[in-house]
Amino acid sequence: MPQQVQGVVAPGRDEPVCVETITVPDPGPGEAVVRVQACGVCHTDLHYKQGGISDDFPFLLGHEAAGVVESVGDGVSDVVPGDFVVLNWRAVCGRCRACLRGRPWYCFDTHNARQKMTLGDGTELSPALGIGAFAEKTLVAAGQCTKVDPAVAPSVAGLLGCGVMAGIGAAVNTGQVGRGDTVAVIGCGGVGDAAIVGARLAGAAKVIAVDVDARKLDIARTMGATHTVDSRTADPVEAIREITGGFGVDVVIEAVGRPETYKQAFYARDLAGTVVLVGVPTPDMTLELPLLDVFGRGGALKSSWYGDCLPSRDFPMLIDLHQQGRIDLAAFVTETISLGEVEKAFARMHEGDVLRSVVVL
Ligand SMILES: NC(=O)c1ccc[n+]([C@@H]2O[C@H](COP(=O)([O-])OP(=O)(O)OC[C@H]3O[C@@H](n4cnc5c(N)ncnc54)[C@H](O)[C@@H]3O)[C@@H](O)[C@H]2O)c1
Ligand SMILES: [Zn+2]
Ligand SMILES: [Zn+2]
Repeated sequence: MPQQVQGVVAPGRDEPVCVETITVPDPGPGEAVVRVQACGVCHTDLHYKQGGISDDFPFLLGHEAAGVVESVGDGVSDVVPGDFVVLNWRAVCGRCRACLRGRPWYCFDTHNARQKMTLGDGTELSPALGIGAFAEKTLVAAGQCTKVDPAVAPSVAGLLGCGVMAGIGAAVNTGQVGRGDTVAVIGCGGVGDAAIVGARLAGAAKVIAVDVDARKLDIARTMGATHTVDSRTADPVEAIREITGGFGVDVVIEAVGRPETYKQAFYARDLAGTVVLVGVPTPDMTLELPLLDVFGRGGALKSSWYGDCLPSRDFPMLIDLHQQGRIDLAAFVTETISLGEVEKAFARMHEGDVLRSVVVL
């Protein structure tokens, strides 16, 4: 029987979000219904609400979640009802040209549930990143469920579902930060701070945090930044060069998603260094760079989709590292809130008051 549950819907561009009754179908072949226990508020949810991702309103927001599998459809064997899972938004297909070449983290045909969740009047909802987890229950493809140790609190485990995984992966997987490298992270929200954690985990010698908000720089230091630069008062490119003997860093992680911060990242690298763009730009943004500088500075300009992660490999591993005390995922949770407080959480995110507000159900 389809179920009626409460979920947070973005009805139209820049309209406030509201809690609505939504209908969740029974899982079809390859699908699972998950009882959501926690879902973090990511900047990408705000992008959705502002129309910065697509115009497919109404959206069912939320995509950084953990919960318990309630039921599964035909042909699902990797998870069973009762499993504690973290939801992922890149369930790899195993058959596309990236998967077949042994690079499944690039999968070009990731999948979501085929059936749609709907509003009471039958209007189809677009779940954010194919998840839609600011809801008591959600319908996903079974491959979007990764089983992890249930000893970890859902509010903490769920963070791996997006921002924390994207940030750690941007440093470790995409940027390939290695022992002794110098690293800068521009934008120290949840994603940027996770990149700092990842860089430290990988053995970086210097980790330089850059932000326009002094409070974020204080937190970045507790996450493992060795240096901080307030780019309201200092030119970040010059400051980063100064900290690195005039050269720039080996890897810059751009976790804002704007042309001006991308340019800072481009010029704050040492020769042959790497830029990793993990911040998500909006469709109106363009970038202009002297092509001679692109050539002459060498190195690599990379984008990081979801930290180039493989959920089945990386989620359980990061949960292990958390349990061993080698990373502190709980430090990302600024506050826990209810479904009705998501709009307020967007405002607090906009004001820079939080790393992560996490909806707990
Ligand atoms: N690539 C991915 O897979 C992926 C996954 C999750 C989120 N994201 C994106 O990552 C970005 C960050 O997400 P978040 O949840 O950490 O957001 P957030 O709002 O918590 O953090 C953004 C940070 O950037 C800082 N900032 C803003 N303008 C700046 C500037 N000009 N210079 C320096 N710092 C500046 C803010 O003060 C804030 O600390 C967003 O664009 C989000 O959409 C990407
Ligand atoms: Zn694939
Ligand atoms: Zn996200």
